Amino acid sequence: MTHAPSVSSFPRELVRAIPKAELHVHLEGTVDAPTLLALCERHGEKPPADDVEGVVDWYKFDGFPMFLDRYFTVLRLLRDPEDFALVAEQYMRTAHEQGVVHVEFHSSATGHILEGGKPWAPIHDGIIAGCSSTADDTDMTWGLIPDISPHLPAADCARAMDEVLAHDLEHIVAIGMGGPADTWTTDDFSPIYDRARSFGIPGVSHAGEHGGADEVRFAVEHFQAIRIQHGIGAMQDPEVVQLLVDREIPCDVCPGSNIALHAVDGAESHPLPRMLDAGITVTLGSDDPPMFQTSVLDEYERAWDWCNLDMTGMHALAQNSLDARLVKR
Ligand code: ADE
Ligand code: ZN
Repeated sequence: MTHAPSVSSFPRELVRAIPKAELHVHLEGTVDAPTLLALCERHGEKPPADDVEGVVDWYKFDGFPMFLDRYFTVLRLLRDPEDFALVAEQYMRTAHEQGVVHVEFHSSATGHILEGGKPWAPIHDGIIAGCSSTADDTDMTWGLIPDISPHLPAADCARAMDEVLAHDLEHIVAIGMGGPADTWTTDDFSPIYDRARSFGIPGVSHAGEHGGADEVRFAVEHFQAIRIQHGIGAMQDPEVVQLLVDREIPCDVCPGSNIALHAVDGAESHPLPRMLDAGITVTLGSDDPPMFQTSVLDEYERAWDWCNLDMTGMHALAQNSLDARLVKR
């Protein structure tokens, strides 16, 4: 699954120099192998493997359920504000090295609050501390997107999101939905989005990753999602494509993730070229980069290779990401 940059004509250094935003990355999914081992040590937990190579190997999945098992293992290891500050700062710096000037971190708020039994305030404050200290010397900006998870009862998610909304909203740019996804239209999560909007906070949502166009339509119509994470399933229905185009709803696409999690059969069948041709606003994200052995620049390289783009195309994708960012002004 490792990407093979050697056969690509991708002008990595030129693309690195383009200012860009990353709008689809999960804080919990940025924990690399050395950091995971350090977290285990810090908390006296047995690591899933003895060394970095072993953890890198453990980060290889045969599909979405196995990925979620790894993802939630990492989520459980993030406990203290210092843990959150460490990973936020570490990823901001990694992104900065790739020309990223703005990061929007999704964080699995309901995973921490409901499944981890952790209060939100120290988590939030740790993330903000890590982002702020990086911003001081990089001039980067950031936003935070607390996610609800559709495998949990909506009433519990509502309670958890109330806890989020009762804390500091300064850097919360949206709420989102992500996680185990096959039943997420069966419970009614719309009131949670309505409530966030009553605080002036819009909604975004994972949709059309493993599911189809109906999921994307549902997120737009019921959650009033102003951006969609992935959205590749929209291509199954021209009406949903038109909905995204007409309402100018960007899709934050993560091609490397889609390959790693078998959301598509392979690079040849990934709909990214068709999404661009259809006029959908696409931004590129790395989703859970060390878990998928990818990076922001690797995602631009995939777009370069798969869509036959030139530097104008690279600039257009970067500009999409800057235009779609949710910066509080
Ligand atoms: N959480 C982290 N990565 C995710 C993905 N690819 N899909 C849904 N939820 C996620
Ligand atoms: Zn995601």
